[in-house]
Amino acid sequence: MGTNSHSLFSFPFAITIFIIFFSTFSLTEANSTLGFSVDLIHRDSQSSPFYNSSLTHFERVSNALRRSQSRVHYFSVACMSSEQASSEVIAIGGVYVMNITLGTPPFNILAIADTGSDLIWTQCMPCTDCYKQTAPLFNPKSSSTYKDVPCGSSECQDFPRSSCSDNDTCEYSVLYGDRSHSHGVLATETLSLGSINVPGIVFGCGFDNGGTFSGDGSGIVGLGGGPVSLISQMNSSIDGKFSYCLVPMSSQNSKSSQMHFGDNAIVSGLEVVSTPIISKSPSTFYSLTLEGITIGRQKVQLNSDSSSSPNAFGNIIIDSGTTLTYLRSDFYDRFEAAVKTTVKLQPASDPLQMLNLCYRVGDNFAFPIITVHFTGADVKLNPINAFVKTSNDVACLAFAPANTIAIFGNLAQMNFLVGYDLIKRTVSFKPTEC
Ligand SMILES: *[C@@H]1O[C@H](CO)[C@@H](O)[C@H](O)[C@H]1NC(C)=O
Ligand SMILES: *[C@@H]1O[C@H](CO)[C@@H](O)[C@H](O)[C@H]1NC(C)=O
Ligand SMILES: *[C@@H]1O[C@H](CO)[C@@H](O)[C@H](O)[C@H]1NC(C)=O
Ligand SMILES: *[C@@H]1O[C@H](CO)[C@@H](O)[C@H](O)[C@H]1NC(C)=O
Repeated sequence: MGTNSHSLFSFPFAITIFIIFFSTFSLTEANSTLGFSVDLIHRDSQSSPFYNSSLTHFERVSNALRRSQSRVHYFSVACMSSEQASSEVIAIGGVYVMNITLGTPPFNILAIADTGSDLIWTQCMPCTDCYKQTAPLFNPKSSSTYKDVPCGSSECQDFPRSSCSDNDTCEYSVLYGDRSHSHGVLATETLSLGSINVPGIVFGCGFDNGGTFSGDGSGIVGLGGGPVSLISQMNSSIDGKFSYCLVPMSSQNSKSSQMHFGDNAIVSGLEVVSTPIISKSPSTFYSLTLEGITIGRQKVQLNSDSSSSPNAFGNIIIDSGTTLTYLRSDFYDRFEAAVKTTVKLQPASDPLQMLNLCYRVGDNFAFPIITVHFTGADVKLNPINAFVKTSNDVACLAFAPANTIAIFGNLAQMNFLVGYDLIKRTVSFKPTEC
């Protein structure tokens, strides 16, 4: 993707604003739980730095489906590799962007919010080899709170693929499967998001980064379940809780999706259903157990043979950065057959030639409810969760087959408050007008 000449924000101006108005909560005494929220900006919405105004709506849909497919590929590689290798290959191309600041005085960073990876990193000065970035680069020398992580520290020793340089700095490398990579030093910094300031967050200060990253973003905020993710690092101060509410595609230009932490992330009420998070390797991914799916009167179950095998637990990853929902091929085929016999609309071929099962539709979007059965949690998907329009008069099933992995994607999660509780080890769903 090319870069665009306009600057996202004027840095000296932003600094001035911050010096005058910056007053935030500090987590130095992090024994009590705090609640705070931030916007999650969909990469294809008008407020996103990735927004390309010359694309049509359906070109954006097409791009989203393509990115979804390549993300499945990275997840597959990560899950198939050995544990050691899998921590090096992480999913790329998340869908939501988050506005954070790093350092003192605070420096703005627009980073991809990624539930499929752990490390927080940004491009740093002095770069030996950085990709071209629209926004200014983070300069560690301009921050009074920046510290290199020493080699002997547990932060360095525990980090997968870290190495020590001669001068006692801890270097890291991450690879994203398609030869995209970030290489640099591990450091600690004050990170702020929403209304709070978190000191001592370990992050990667990347001086050699490249591949398919877009110049409009300046890094990644890893929200996965592994030890170096933002969530794990804030663990006790947010009581292991975060949630998000994703706005449907049709309203993304009028309002922003939200992510909540700590006390703001509690999901409660009569309509809440919860399912266990299964501990699996790699710990980055949030794995749930899918038992079956109902459409109309047909309940399609995962094979009873396989449900008694250990692999049946944690058989699907929940991810906000994958657009479609992916099912193992054999199960997908049986589910698709059930959709075909239940939906009485006129079949059509996908104008984008990406999805398997499509129908001719008018303006109304009348499809049967599809209920996804996780262990202990029946999640009722509305038509906007299960079907996607790929042209003005065609809507397609927003599910696809995958050989090695299953992923519960973001279309399926729109208009639900989805809450993660890493102490109780549950994910909860509550139907919500986001
Ligand atoms: C925006 O989309 C147009 C049309 O596909 C493309 O030619 C152009 O390179 C895109 N611009 C950016 C910045 O990606
Ligand atoms: C990120 O935050 C800064 C400072 O509040 C603001 O100027 C900027 O517009 C925000 N960027 C986006 C994409 O919301
Ligand atoms: C430490 O060494 C690395 C290369 O091994 C170099 O890139 C870096 O600038 C050095 N850092 C300091 C603080 O001297
Ligand atoms: C998070 O905190 C809880 C309770 O304070 C603890 O049991 C758990 O091990 C911590 N998890 C991580 C990843 O640090």
